[in-house]
Amino acid sequence: MGFFSSSTQTIPIAGDIPTHIAVIMDGNGRWARKRFLPRVAGHKRGVETVRTLVKKCAEIQVKYLTLFAFSSENWRRPEEEVSFLMGLFMDALQREVAKLHENNIRLILIGDRSKFGDALVKQIAHAEQLTTKNTGLTLTIAANYGGRWDMLQAMNKMQLSNPAKAGKFQEQDIAQYLSTQYAPEPDLFIRTGGETRISNFLLWQLAYTELYFTDVLWPDFDDQAFAKAIQSFQQRERRFGRTSEQLKAPSDA
Ligand code: IPE
Ligand code: IPE
Ligand code: MG
Repeated sequence: MGFFSSSTQTIPIAGDIPTHIAVIMDGNGRWARKRFLPRVAGHKRGVETVRTLVKKCAEIQVKYLTLFAFSSENWRRPEEEVSFLMGLFMDALQREVAKLHENNIRLILIGDRSKFGDALVKQIAHAEQLTTKNTGLTLTIAANYGGRWDMLQAMNKMQLSNPAKAGKFQEQDIAQYLSTQYAPEPDLFIRTGGETRISNFLLWQLAYTELYFTDVLWPDFDDQAFAKAIQSFQQRERRFGRTSEQLKAPSDA
């Protein structure tokens, strides 16, 4: 199996529709609070947004959609909220997997699974196995994921795989051990909820990703809000280190 090259090594081919979109789904708690509802009501509602976004991405032929569902730091939240989120994740997997499969969607989970309960681990494995050969959208759920965790586990695997190469490893060596090795680097990053930070999401992979931040809260992030993000992406000039002139006259670049 081949793997994708680093954006810092080879200039990726950039299209009008991003091949890979990565999203920090933020603002559920505030959405609920605004309505005098418990925070978890926002998480529940947020699942609806996931459903509509997945559908839309499949429709416009985005190839990879990566959603940050639970960070390695989210364990710091109150226990009731954490267990509600785990339960919601389990329910959503059980309810949606058949439909994902019907729609030719491949589901992959990235993150450290060792902290999940047995039932959840089994359910994830089942969903991944069922959909593994699907050729439509690849939907990645980042759960108990952290960008630093990802880089560390990749570096450890890389070193173990070829100890003799110590001191001479290349970017490509790391990239193939990252948990997202099956996907090109994201073209577009979206964060809803108004915060302008990465919060330990894909640290290595976002090197040349176009960043888009919106105040829209995740449960309100509808097709129209998504269309705005795509429009913003389409107005960017992705130079990857080159000059604007080089892009306009690619023949003498
Ligand atoms: C994002 O919404 C969902 C998760 C982190 C699981 P939040 O729960 O962070 O919502 P806010 O930021 O408190 O509004
Ligand atoms: C980031 O959101 C993680 C997810 C959306 C899963 P947070 O709401 O946890 O981020 P911080 O803590 O405000 O940076
Ligand atoms: Mg938040």
